[in-house]
Amino acid sequence: GAPVEFDLSPVGEGQIVKLFWRGKLIFVRHRTPEEIKAAQDVNLASLPDPQPDAERVKAGKAQWLVVYGNCTHLGCVPLGHEGAFHGWACPCHGSIFDTSGRIRQGPAPVNLPVPPYAFLSDTKIQIG
Ligand code: FES
Repeated sequence: GAPVEFDLSPVGEGQIVKLFWRGKLIFVRHRTPEEIKAAQDVNLASLPDPQPDAERVKAGKAQWLVVYGNCTHLGCVPLGHEGAFHGWACPCHGSIFDTSGRIRQGPAPVNLPVPPYAFLSDTKIQIG
């Protein structure tokens, strides 16, 4: 599939939007300062799939999280702003993701992956 451009400007702070790229669901989340802090202030050793938040977002753009939108367990679509970490909660078997899309509880083995993307400007990304 071709790369897709996505305009971030309508996505307000706190919002999560869904889009499709190569037939795959992707979440674009405009994180609040609290959500960013929660994602950064984590003991990595406590994570099932340890990955610093800084490696999951672009430098200087920590407010934007872009992740694939299917649970890494069996592919259900997790619900945003739900669960103990206010990231996502999967309705199928209870996997709980944090505000970086990292698995924190439940059967999903790994974090929600980050697709390839780049900022074209402050308000536009290209996925793929
Ligand atoms: Fe999400 Fe099983 S598909 S927990």
